[in-house]
Amino acid sequence: MSSHTAGKRTTAPDIRARKGVEPIVALTAYNALTARLVDAHVDIILVGDSLAMVEHGMSSTLGANLNLMISHAKSVMRVSSKALVVVDLPFGSYESSPRVAFESASRILQETGCSAVKLEGATAMSETIEFLSARGIPVMAHVGLMPQSVMTLGGFKVQGRDEKDWPELEAAARAVANAGAFAVVLEGTVEPLAARIPKALPVPTIGIGASSECDGQVLVLEDMLGLSERVPRFVRRFGELGVAADKAISAYAAAVRDRSFPNEEEVYRSKN
Ligand code: KIV
Repeated sequence: MSSHTAGKRTTAPDIRARKGVEPIVALTAYNALTARLVDAHVDIILVGDSLAMVEHGMSSTLGANLNLMISHAKSVMRVSSKALVVVDLPFGSYESSPRVAFESASRILQETGCSAVKLEGATAMSETIEFLSARGIPVMAHVGLMPQSVMTLGGFKVQGRDEKDWPELEAAARAVANAGAFAVVLEGTVEPLAARIPKALPVPTIGIGASSECDGQVLVLEDMLGLSERVPRFVRRFGELGVAADKAISAYAAAVRDRSFPNEEEVYRSKN
């Protein structure tokens, strides 16, 4: 069963209503090509700031900015019609105050036509989530391993390895849900803690490197397709497109070099 009605794009309230009903399928897409591929299969397309790393070769997500996110999100919105498109608020565009967050988020919604934003942050972001939600902006929260905090975390470190940190991590998830987030991404968190959090929250949790107990899962598309050079340990490669692409490109290079491409059928003649 799917909550999607033909002709109608999935909304944030639709996703909120899926808690306890049916797992939520989410994938990233950053451009028209990939958005076209995933739209038919997922409930949520995330235009994640991971695009800074995956698409632009940066070493972290910190280099993404509002203009970059908007440009990618516009491409995704142009070709998708079914999935809820959620766009990441990039580092530096929302943390300083709820008002600044509103300006950035409203720009994203107005310029791209998407219907929700995602922001990283634990309890300190609750006021901002409340502010945005009360002003008509659906917010997906992101707790656990927060890539925008890679500098203070000292790397992309799994959260909750030490049990004494569990109450604070769980409290963070509760705080963002109580502040009005329609869903919460739970990233890079040890399984026993990650398995507890969905039961403690009234809204869906979307796991990535967390637990199968989450109400849904999200992956970076290029990682699960086998296109990324290196992937986190938890990523299952559902395809080996990198290998297939390498084969195709080397076959093309060989064909050009031995002049077997283009052949008779692949060239235009002056007649017919
Ligand atoms: O930026 C991103 O792609 C994300 C997902 C990994 C959850 O935030």
